[in-house]
Amino acid sequence: MYTQAMDTGPKEERKVVRSAEEAELERRFDAKIDAGDFIEAKDWMPEHYRKTLLRQISQHAHSEIVGMLPEGNWITRAPTLKRKAILLAKVQDEGGHGLYLYAAAETLGTSRDQMVDALHAGKAKYSSIFNYPTLTWADIGTIGWLVDGAAIMNQVPICRCSYAPYARAMIRICREESFHQRQGFDSLLVMMREGTPEQKAMVQDAVNRWWWPSIMMFGPPDDQSPNSAQGMRWGIKRISNDTLRQKFIDATAEQAKVLGVTLPDPLLKWNDERQHHDFGPIDWAEFWRVVGGDGPCNRDRLATRVRAWDEGAWVREAALAHARKQATKKEAA
Ligand SMILES: [Fe+2]
Ligand SMILES: [Fe+2]
Repeated sequence: MYTQAMDTGPKEERKVVRSAEEAELERRFDAKIDAGDFIEAKDWMPEHYRKTLLRQISQHAHSEIVGMLPEGNWITRAPTLKRKAILLAKVQDEGGHGLYLYAAAETLGTSRDQMVDALHAGKAKYSSIFNYPTLTWADIGTIGWLVDGAAIMNQVPICRCSYAPYARAMIRICREESFHQRQGFDSLLVMMREGTPEQKAMVQDAVNRWWWPSIMMFGPPDDQSPNSAQGMRWGIKRISNDTLRQKFIDATAEQAKVLGVTLPDPLLKWNDERQHHDFGPIDWAEFWRVVGGDGPCNRDRLATRVRAWDEGAWVREAALAHARKQATKKEAA
């Protein structure tokens, strides 16, 4: 569903001492990046580029998988068969996104098992948006509209990421995210147009709770985002956090009018001179608290993930046993 984390990882120092051969390889790599060419898994790449990508793609993969939890929670309680089928499809899509991304990350030399271990040990991060609870059915529509909407803004530029396996995965993912955003908006629109006063109030309450965390999904402000410049240089990041955030706010403010909800920011206002919306201050202390592990659901999400992994052990074993059996049959034939 989403990325944010490349700005929140540990800062790594670049190796300054290089052999002449390595310097030449790096020169060729830089020239390729400057020409807008893609880097494939088999190509030489600087260690720092590989590690940065590995961190970003694996955090992105973890976000897809953990992102299944807040919504999965509502599959059994969807109000109609149609909404249940849509939600089931969406949550399955997120699982699929996780798989594409783990596969892309594996091309950088770390196995999926290692990445999953790091997540379960609490060493790897995932998007902090999934550490907020889904209290009512309106949260599900709101997640589609705002969270998947922010994810699309973030992810469309990654379709042009310099690392080809990541870019290819993102093209497929973005197509599905657009369905996720629309189903969320549609679900809210039905409640706002045909719902009872209580249902309308439910939508407004969900929007009040998700608005600020959603705009935090673009990551810290540009002047506090130390890894961004290098990400831009390498063609991993194409558009800055603040630019994407502004784009999202401008698009969403208009959609809120169609829905008939109020975004919970008294300072949100169109600025004719800037041709953008102005908006109020973001509580970055809250963002860092949730990223640091102290959000409303951090512990619960991780515990649920670990339990699902443990309880699914028999499925993995059965799949492996089946694969072995098929291979033996093939050999015998
Ligand atoms: Fe999604
Ligand atoms: Fe997704």
